[in-house]
Amino acid sequence: MLAFGRVGEEFERRFAEFIGVRHVVAVSNGTVALYLGFKALGVGPGDEVVVPDFTFVATASAAMLLGAIPVLVDIDPETYTVDPAEVERAVSERTKVVVPVHLYGHPADLDPIIKLGVERGFYVVEDCAQAIGAEYRGRRVGSLGTVAAFSFYPTKNMTTGEGGAVATNDDGVADTVRLLRNHGQRCRYYHVALGWNFRMTDIQAALGLSQLRKLSYMNERRRELARIYREELESVPQLRLPEEKLWAKHVYSLYTVWVEGEGTRDRLANYLRERGVETAVHYPIPLHQQPILSRARRTPGCCRNSEEASKHVLSLPLHPGLSVEDILYVSKLVKSFFSS
Ligand SMILES: Cc1ncc(COP(=O)(O)O)c(C=O)c1O
Repeated sequence: MLAFGRVGEEFERRFAEFIGVRHVVAVSNGTVALYLGFKALGVGPGDEVVVPDFTFVATASAAMLLGAIPVLVDIDPETYTVDPAEVERAVSERTKVVVPVHLYGHPADLDPIIKLGVERGFYVVEDCAQAIGAEYRGRRVGSLGTVAAFSFYPTKNMTTGEGGAVATNDDGVADTVRLLRNHGQRCRYYHVALGWNFRMTDIQAALGLSQLRKLSYMNERRRELARIYREELESVPQLRLPEEKLWAKHVYSLYTVWVEGEGTRDRLANYLRERGVETAVHYPIPLHQQPILSRARRTPGCCRNSEEASKHVLSLPLHPGLSVEDILYVSKLVKSFFSS
């Protein structure tokens, strides 16, 4: 039951069915899923990997661990996901991969990026860590790029404790990821590639199977609670609430609002904390200000939207275990902060 076996294989099959891809390979976490996805596409020293400036560090660090050069681009201020026009400006002869991140549960605008990839010869790797079950133009995210990476960390829309998965329709990529996650073994004790132990265990996969059965319910519940936040908070002029584009199905991995005014976001967070409500900032420091990325290449002018977002965004409590009363309570506190 401990090692990866029959339960893991069943989880992979069912998750692949859910996403709508030919292959899913379950791995130890989302960072490893990105890393192995990049590696299987041949990303290596000197290759450029274009990533949004506003994301969790693993989107970029997984590529840097392979010797690739991250190129940072700005985000669209309405969805907080990568701006396709900025991607176009960033692409060069050396671009191997572009990584749209479906941040907070809202899909990135994939079509223009995929089209550009065909024209300019780069791969698209979707970072779906925060968007399990989200849809882009009626199709689940993770089924549109060449490769997709998922995380099943406890804060995600479904969890296996720690865990992750690579999804792809490419038989060769799936085969390579399978090999590399298990010491490059083609068959027992016969090693054809230099690999690692990046396996998911059957215990994690059993959790994954049970979570997968509840995922649609949990996502609908998140959407319902988000709807109530909107009803309650849309009259507050100092807030900009999360948008759902016409082409998108948002799964609200996070309910992140924009708070107008200098320092107001932090004052609101303190006010809520003093009244027993935890919030979080995703993310307080954009990638180009991180010590490990301070010398990364970025497009000229990048990254104003991302810098502004890091000063203004605040994630309010949202998960399927909250009640309608909880959301009303938080909303009431937020409104009382602004009216006081
Ligand atoms: C956008 C994004 N990418 C990658 C990861 C990495 O996933 P993990 O924490 O499972 O390694 C995360 C997780 O927080 C994430 O939010």
